[in-house]
Amino acid sequence: MASKVLGINAVFHDPAAALVLDGVTVAAAEEERFNRRKHGKDPVAFSTWELPERAAAWCIEHAGLAPADLDVVAYSYDPALATTPSGDIMGGTWEGLRTLFAERAPRFLATSLPGLDPERVRFVPHHVAHAASAYLAAGHDSCAVLTLDGRGEGTSALAGHVGDGTLKVLAEQPLPQSLGLVYESLTAHLGFRRASDEYKVMALASYGEPRWLDDLRETIHATGDGGFAAQPPDWERFAPAIHGGEDWGPEHADLASSLQRRLEEVLLELAGWLHGRTGESRLAMAGGVALNCVANSRLWRDGPFDEVWVQPAAGDAGTALGAALYVAKELGEWVEPMTTAALGRGWAPHELEAWLDRAALPYERPDDVAEEAATVLARNGVVAWFQGRSEYGPRALGSRSLMADPRNPANLERLNDVKGREQFRPVAPMVLEERAAEIFDGGPLPSPYMLFTHRVKEEWLDRIPAVVHVDGTARIQTVSAEREPAVARMLRAFERRTGVPVVVNTSLNTAGRPMVDDPRDALECFGSAPVDALVIGPFLLRRPGSAAAERLDLEVVVG
Ligand SMILES: [Fe+2]
Repeated sequence: MASKVLGINAVFHDPAAALVLDGVTVAAAEEERFNRRKHGKDPVAFSTWELPERAAAWCIEHAGLAPADLDVVAYSYDPALATTPSGDIMGGTWEGLRTLFAERAPRFLATSLPGLDPERVRFVPHHVAHAASAYLAAGHDSCAVLTLDGRGEGTSALAGHVGDGTLKVLAEQPLPQSLGLVYESLTAHLGFRRASDEYKVMALASYGEPRWLDDLRETIHATGDGGFAAQPPDWERFAPAIHGGEDWGPEHADLASSLQRRLEEVLLELAGWLHGRTGESRLAMAGGVALNCVANSRLWRDGPFDEVWVQPAAGDAGTALGAALYVAKELGEWVEPMTTAALGRGWAPHELEAWLDRAALPYERPDDVAEEAATVLARNGVVAWFQGRSEYGPRALGSRSLMADPRNPANLERLNDVKGREQFRPVAPMVLEERAAEIFDGGPLPSPYMLFTHRVKEEWLDRIPAVVHVDGTARIQTVSAEREPAVARMLRAFERRTGVPVVVNTSLNTAGRPMVDDPRDALECFGSAPVDALVIGPFLLRRPGSAAAERLDLEVVVG
């Protein structure tokens, strides 16, 4: 049958929308890329009414539809499963208010998308939406599925078995036990933003020793039934809280290391149970905990599954897609597997040219912008790279990226300065898919979505020092010439100039802001950050005075 399903995530954080037509994902985008607020909104119960209204409107318009055309709006939270009723809006630290707002979501949606019939809104349980974003997007007819996050309505995890594309739930973990909330609480204890900066704890863990692992084993453990015990311990017992920009010390890194290691162990225990129950060789994962690429690689290396597929938008943003795919499948559609995260906004060359003309900036249209980018990179320039449709999920994957030469160790500090990030944070490499195995091991290959860490082989450690983390690993993105031709051409051109088929890739944004999405964001970034060149569609903008971006020839300049 023909079906038009819009998925919506709005309840906790990372509001997002996704549109699935006849089982095919045609658009998916996070609200933060439109409203320019990191994570879209504050993660508090009284923001539950805030919808991904711009992302949703764009998805519908992108497909040439109107809200009245939608068959179903799939909302990735079911208020009927909430633990605090809407009648008690003050109850459970505003949880009742969250329930009330979720119940009213159909009317809120009809207000924000005029013409939508509120009767068409359907609630999909939060963890079912996460799970569908994994097994349906992976394209597996049969597999095991595991979702772990901070929380859904009343649970923090789901373990299931997929057969014939249909989910059978084997175990759910009720709150307050939550691996995600434990990790969030340490994130806050270490002075970072909870439900946002968990990856900083993961990065910090590499600097420490897991000296409190045994203590954590006592309180955080699997329970042998597909669930686990996990509540935040008194972190103060181990290391004092960090406040307002204070520096971290060795004890903080040790604490991060202890929890990271414990998370990996519990994940292995859960995977062992799930493998025993399902007998499947493939695992599909989603939920915010599945963004922990160090744990994902440990699971891949030491766990019982041959294949581990992780949804690139594993956090709550991905539940918009998962809810829509789940309903499409229920409506009888064959669901097309996900082959790219480039599902957001894109602009045609003539549209980009109009933006550049309006900004009155000098620009060129070279024969191949990928060659020009490689030249600037090989001369140690920093390149802002804007190509195609923007990424769905938190990682820059060659659509909105900031690139540099991995041979120069100083480029780590340089990029962290551009982005206003802490210096302990690593930057990641992109590598030609066919060359990856020469340079990296210890994780699955190909690895197109930066969801696993790999070891950098001994002989490459000194050749690409800017992308090697303190523990000798790198969170790689493998680039396929078929799927990402412009990025692959750039990598090949860089290798011709340097002998290295690897480039530093980090997200294109400046301090604390969401990733660049539209051409105006790109131009604002180019205007305010010390990048040497902006490559935007087929056009190249050079930073005046930059030695790396200086023209090498005297060809005619367009524009
Ligand atoms: Fe979630």
